[in-house]
Amino acid sequence: MLQATSIPQHIAIIMDGNGRWAKSRGLPRAQGHRAGAESVREAIDACKELGVSYLTLYAFSSENWNRPQAEVSALMILLEKFLSSKAADLMRQNVRLQVIGQIDRLPESTRETLQKVIAQTASNDSLTLVLALSYGSREEITAATRKIAQGLLDGCWKMEDITPELLASQLDTAAIPDPDLLIRTSGEMRVSNFLLWQISYAEMVIVDKFWPDFRQGDLFAAVAEYQKRHRRFGSV
Ligand code: FPP
Repeated sequence: MLQATSIPQHIAIIMDGNGRWAKSRGLPRAQGHRAGAESVREAIDACKELGVSYLTLYAFSSENWNRPQAEVSALMILLEKFLSSKAADLMRQNVRLQVIGQIDRLPESTRETLQKVIAQTASNDSLTLVLALSYGSREEITAATRKIAQGLLDGCWKMEDITPELLASQLDTAAIPDPDLLIRTSGEMRVSNFLLWQISYAEMVIVDKFWPDFRQGDLFAAVAEYQKRHRRFGSV
């Protein structure tokens, strides 16, 4: 049983294990990503059911550009197909789409599809689905630092204006609250350059299943685990 009073406002997920899921079945890696898209639907539905406000999914990291070209292309096509086929559901479910990451590195057709669905869902206000695409936290923090340095050089800011709040306001996630719960699948205990600044006080739940096997019940179980933890934010 979940307590309705302590549902995390923001859940972030590192969707890991698509490749191993496919390998364990003797299938090509792209099949694992396709099966993973079904788990994305499950995670959205589960967040809607719980009344979660933000769901951030690590869909493609800065490092993922180093994968074979065929896998990168397959992922981009899958993303486009997913968004095109899911747009009507997002409208029906009152879900707003946003993205974080170096979007200008994505292929033009992927960017166009994203922009279309972002615009279409912009006034939806139940759940915000944030896709981290071509995203790397170190790159994000470096870009924010550059903006602050430029502001200093231009005289917009003084040295004493540089605070954690100012830095947070220059990140891609400026308008998004920090995650309360970080889930990673496939049993790996790594953060992998994901939201390093923003997860400072997040509770982590590691799920020992590959992402394509992740179902709504797994998200509910992770929230139950979160509710057992006592968040102290550094105090006693
Ligand atoms: C990690 O598995 C997963 C990814 C790099 C991509 C995530 C993509 C999806 C879930 C597909 C669809 C996404 C959306 C938003 C529709 P891995 O390939 O690193 O697995 P491995 O560690 O077992 O090799």
